[in-house]
Amino acid sequence: MAEGAATSTATTLPVRDIPGDYGIPFASAIRDRLDFYYFQGQDKYFQTRVDKYHSTVVRLNVPPGPFMATDPRVIAVLDANSFPILFDVSKVEKKDVFTGTYMPSTSLTGGYRVCSYLDPSEPNHAKVKQLLFNILASRKDAVIPAFRANFTALFETMESQVTAAGKSDFNKLNDNTSFDFLGEAYFGVRPSSTALGSTGPTKSTKWLFLQLCPLMTLGLPKILEELLLHTFPLPPLIAKCDYKALYKYFSSAAGNALDNAEKLGLKRDEACHNLLFATVFNSYGGMKVLLPGILGWLAKADKSLHVRLAKEIRSTVLAEGGKVTLNAVEKMDLTRSVVYEALRMDPPVKYQYGKAKQDLVIESHDAAFKVKKGEMLFGYQPFATRDPKVFDDADRFIGDRFLGDEGKKLIKYVVWSNGPESESPTVSNKQCPGKDFVVLVGRLLVVEFFLRYDTFTADVGTVLLGSQVTVTSLTKVAASSSDI
Ligand code: HEM
Repeated sequence: MAEGAATSTATTLPVRDIPGDYGIPFASAIRDRLDFYYFQGQDKYFQTRVDKYHSTVVRLNVPPGPFMATDPRVIAVLDANSFPILFDVSKVEKKDVFTGTYMPSTSLTGGYRVCSYLDPSEPNHAKVKQLLFNILASRKDAVIPAFRANFTALFETMESQVTAAGKSDFNKLNDNTSFDFLGEAYFGVRPSSTALGSTGPTKSTKWLFLQLCPLMTLGLPKILEELLLHTFPLPPLIAKCDYKALYKYFSSAAGNALDNAEKLGLKRDEACHNLLFATVFNSYGGMKVLLPGILGWLAKADKSLHVRLAKEIRSTVLAEGGKVTLNAVEKMDLTRSVVYEALRMDPPVKYQYGKAKQDLVIESHDAAFKVKKGEMLFGYQPFATRDPKVFDDADRFIGDRFLGDEGKKLIKYVVWSNGPESESPTVSNKQCPGKDFVVLVGRLLVVEFFLRYDTFTADVGTVLLGSQVTVTSLTKVAASSSDI
């Protein structure tokens, strides 16, 4: 089994020139963009290039390209061994690369470059990240009650929709529920109980869309999508009023956190724009993809997995006196493994970038490659987390993959958080500060689900950047075991 390694020092592997071709400036980048979105699709786009050059480290163009991005040329790292170079902030610069080769206008974020776009060498990075750590730590006990309250209501609606119409759109329900859950969990104030009313999710989605549309396809005629989404940025003005309303919620709901921000040396308004971004883009954007992703994999899994999960969850909760506590959730090994496996199969954020800070040597499984200072490195994460040299049957969802001694050894190859699952975010690295929160919320979904239901069926498709899950039947748990 390979040890994740990328090095700037000596290598025992044969040194190869990085194969691949950027083609003719401008024209090839547009042709490649069309391949990526329409003619090949992302998986095939990368796989054909890996196959052509017999290398998992390869030069290629990434979308969106002209005119959105000034330079689409990257060195792609497409295996589990070379991918971790992107986590090493002593070797790669993470300045303004959060969305890749283009950066949305800072007028969408109050004129500030928010934390996700800062390199750890910039002073405000540590201050904002510390603020987020403080909020998550201080609100630790609020997470489970807020999740239960909001998602119990979601499940009740889902049941009545399935009874009335034979189906329920989980994504739609999740969008509204996750938004309220996050506001309540982080700041103790449900957005829907403020002046925002029920408009928070729609306003947020519009603002997110302006930032992420260069990476999306909507199924509209190609020429329209190319012109509207992929070539020029949409004017930030489109979401100005929406952003203002969201900002108002944060500036009043997050009062305590903003006081703390000032003590950490941040300007109050800069901190507020950062809290908005971390909650709406990082957290809400993440939940929109993560939770349908987990439910989708469960729907496609063998029913015997449902039986095993229900057994583990119900017996552990019962042993904790019938309460869903953090302690109980920590003991649920199969539930944790299922969440890791969903994150491995479909990491919600698939692309990562970093610019070489110095001349480097990076290693794939079978060769070493020289990278020049200033070159852009890019990782397509599913190729690292579905690497057949690390994972047996790598393209198959195996719910109990991470159980046992052998399973535990694989946890470090789960890297959805921009770092190994076996490591922790700090103010000096770029690993997601929401790492533990996210894995907890993923598990809470599974826990709440199997406390209510024995099994279920759903249609699973794709939508924008994730899975679309439409629940078609729910088998409620027999009354005798549903008292928890
Ligand atoms: C499913 C949910 C989530 C996913 C998939 C996710 C994923 C990621 C990834 C991949 C990065 C690194 C991006 C890069 O630099 O290349 C990141 C960074 C970040 N995430 Fe998350 N995240 C999630 C939830 C959250 C939550 C709940 C928070 C709330 C605190 C959060 C806050 C951030 C911040 C502030 C950064 C920038 C970190 C830094 O600059 O050091 N994320 N996240």
